[in-house]
Amino acid sequence: MEFFLSPSLLSADFANLQRDVEMLNASQADWFHLDIMDGLFVPNITFGQPVVKALKKYARKPLDVHLMIMEPDRYIQDFKEAGADILTVHEEACRHLNRTVSEIKKAGMKAGVSLNPHTPVSMLENIIEYIDLVLIMSVNPGFGGQKFIENAYRKIEETARLKEKYNRNLIIEVDGGVSLENTPKLVACGANALVAGSAVFSAPDPAKRIAEFKAL
Ligand code: DX5
Ligand code: ZN
Repeated sequence: MEFFLSPSLLSADFANLQRDVEMLNASQADWFHLDIMDGLFVPNITFGQPVVKALKKYARKPLDVHLMIMEPDRYIQDFKEAGADILTVHEEACRHLNRTVSEIKKAGMKAGVSLNPHTPVSMLENIIEYIDLVLIMSVNPGFGGQKFIENAYRKIEETARLKEKYNRNLIIEVDGGVSLENTPKLVACGANALVAGSAVFSAPDPAKRIAEFKAL
């Protein structure tokens, strides 16, 4: 199956991030998924630009940065300088999403828009031709290791129909509760990028687990 695998560092060992980055460099992973949480848009707090910048020194694959923060416009330049390659904002956090997306692209990054589980795909209709990636949340954002929410399958299919119509190069990424078991169905629905946190890092050998995903 053809898809980008983006292991989420949220489930890595924060006291040994360099070791986990080197493991991912040597693995078949395609991207590094970095979850930025502000304690307002989501209940949890993770890390910010200084940590992204530190990771960039070692990471040899694109940084796929997922902003779960209010007012993301204030930090676009900071994340560019920290080394983000893809910058994804939440539709629910942006009052002027078209402006936000063009600022991300102007800064030289790929622009992604994420939808929470309750946000309809129709919210993308007037932005889809301007973006590079849609991130369908299949859990309520904030924590790793949660149970997959089933309406994601339908939402991926709906996004794939918009892709067909308005933006053939769109990447459809899924985040939350992704596993070896549900990957074939996610890809069959139209996903071509998958985030995996606990499925990778809770495995006894994470690099081997990545290889298992890529062999599907
Ligand atoms: C959740 C984050 C995810 C998280 C996924 O809010 O956006 O990227 O790390 O973790 P798993 O794969 O364990 O559900
Ligand atoms: Zn994420």
